[in-house]
Amino acid sequence: MATLVTGGAGYIGSHTTVALHDAGRDVVILDDFSNASRRAIDAMRSLTRADLVVVEGDAGDPDVLDAVFGGHRIDSVVHFAARKSVAESISDPLGYYRSNLGSVISLAAAAIDRGVRRLVFSSSATVYGSASALPVTEDSPTVPESPYGETKLMGERILADAAAASDLTAVMLRYFNPVGAHPSGLIGEDPSTEPANLVPRIMQVAAGRRDRLDVFGADYSTVDGTAVRDYVHVMDLAEGHVAALDTETAPVSSRVYNLGTGSGTTVLQVLAAASEVLGTRIPYEMADRRPGDIEASWADCTRARDELGWQARRVLAQMLADHWNFARKHPES
Ligand code: WQD
Repeated sequence: MATLVTGGAGYIGSHTTVALHDAGRDVVILDDFSNASRRAIDAMRSLTRADLVVVEGDAGDPDVLDAVFGGHRIDSVVHFAARKSVAESISDPLGYYRSNLGSVISLAAAAIDRGVRRLVFSSSATVYGSASALPVTEDSPTVPESPYGETKLMGERILADAAAASDLTAVMLRYFNPVGAHPSGLIGEDPSTEPANLVPRIMQVAAGRRDRLDVFGADYSTVDGTAVRDYVHVMDLAEGHVAALDTETAPVSSRVYNLGTGSGTTVLQVLAAASEVLGTRIPYEMADRRPGDIEASWADCTRARDELGWQARRVLAQMLADHWNFARKHPES
């Protein structure tokens, strides 16, 4: 039996595929390569098995799903495939609702029809919006501030309702800020589009592909005026998905978990850590706040620790070293 990983050629999907292999699971990847490079496939085959099954197609297309479930013995699903740009979702909300929710509905229907009992859903801390109290728990108010965040929250609710009405169990994982790469440096964050996120941009500055980093906002009520986030190693996240596939959730048919480190780091602290780890100064300038950014967010991961037996193990310096180890080997990323 195999685990179907939609979006399996993407950043978190590729790392999760490797973690699933290392945990002894067979994997079938489904990806339309809209935001993933085919370069990842060869690297993933070298980290898992040469005959790793990769199907190119849209996870929201019922015919594609029919062929995948008909051609392979799938007993569980991890669903990553989604459009994930906050800014793009604001300019194309209908495209985001159609794509992200369409794939959740089609995939859940296909999985239930085929008797799949476990589906793990890639959700996001973005569902919390400008989190009220910190640290954020799974019971904190969910007030998304973008159509992208809405699609993640609605996706959770769709899956919870589908699970309650079937034999499917749905486990939703709300990631905070994923960074880092597999220690081999063979896979990492390799988006098809220009990165908007902090760490990939720091790596571009270090690689001489960007003159400087603009620090978006120096007037937040934080220790140094810059915004706080909970950065978590992508390999820790990947291992969280393996734990989510195995966990027992009864008597409930669906369950939400935060995956983070439980600690917050400011932009300037990330910059200082990156300079230290990379052994080079990272030129930066203070700039205005980025519209839509929140001041601070970090996770309470007690539930994942107690119920999944999962805790983030890798520290920020390791995240940055691993991210750089991939970025410097892949200047095109
Ligand atoms: C982190 C901090 C920026 C770039 C986003 C998505 C979220 C999730 C993770 C999918 C912020 C600051 C950034 C730069 C900067 N993705 N920054 N200069 O915005 O917390 O979360 O990625 O689920 O949904 O919203 O991550 O890395 O973009 O920003 O100062 O050039 O770095 O203002 O404070 P973010 P980020």
